[in-house]
Order: sequence, then structure tokens, then C-alpha cells
Amino acid sequence: MPMNRRNFITNSCTACLALTGIPALLSSCSITHYLSGTLGNDGIFIDKSAFQTGKSNNPSFRSFIIVRNDALQYPICVYRFGEDKFSALWMRCSHQGAELQASGTSLQCPAHGSEFSNTGKVTNGPADTDLRTFPVSIENNQLFIDLRAI
Ligand code: FES
Repeated sequence: MPMNRRNFITNSCTACLALTGIPALLSSCSITHYLSGTLGNDGIFIDKSAFQTGKSNNPSFRSFIIVRNDALQYPICVYRFGEDKFSALWMRCSHQGAELQASGTSLQCPAHGSEFSNTGKVTNGPADTDLRTFPVSIENNQLFIDLRAI
């Protein structure tokens, strides 16, 4: 039976912990946060608070979250650069269309090794085209990812 991405990550993280027991691995695995968002006419809304991990008096923030919604063919990785600065990247490799894997500062393609920055720029081939990006706006503590360009 083929292993999908979610099962691969779950199994890999479990294997890492079983073999090493290094607490840092647990924290690196646990930072990937998935949500579905709320679909609107022209895009998806997500709560800005989804990035916050610490308590309100001492907040810390995830560097990225992944929006996975049944209405979308691929997930969208949203990177946070600051209070009002985000990028939204289509997690479809621009080489041959494999679904990308995200980490703290980049995305990697499991098929042939292409890598992309957290703004969607190609940093390693064979892909030679940047990722598709979507405009992000902020209103009432919600991010709106404009999907009209899909
Ligand atoms: S499909 Fe991503 S590098 Fe080939």
C-alpha cells in the first residue's frame, strides 16, 4: 500500500523518537500545524491566532502553517515573517507537480529534490520556475488568502 505524505511524516517522527529520544526532534515534528480554514467566494480565511503558540502574555509564533482544504487540489503553506507580513505558497512543485514538504524556512520536493524558499523562489533544481503564490491580506485578525489566481 502506498504511503501518503501524512503517514510518512507521522511514521518518520515516531521512528526518530524511538531511535534517538532527542526532545528537539519532538519539537521540530510538532511545529507543523494543519488547518482547513474557512472557504469564501474568492479565497480562504484563517485566524491569525493560528500562528501563536505561547501564552498571550508571552507569545511565540509558528514560522508556518499548512492550509489543507478538500476544495483545494494542493495545500497552501503560509509563512509568517512578522505581525503583518505573510506569504502563501501553493505546495505544488513547479517541476512535475509533486506535493511539497515544508520546513521552517523552505519547501522540498520529495520526487526529485527541488527546493524553494519561504517566499516561493527556486533555490535548487531541477525545478526552474518559482512556486505559485497568492496575495494575503489581513482584516479583523484574519488572513485572507486570495485564490482567484488558481
Ligand atoms: S516534481 Fe518536484 S523536483 Fe520533480
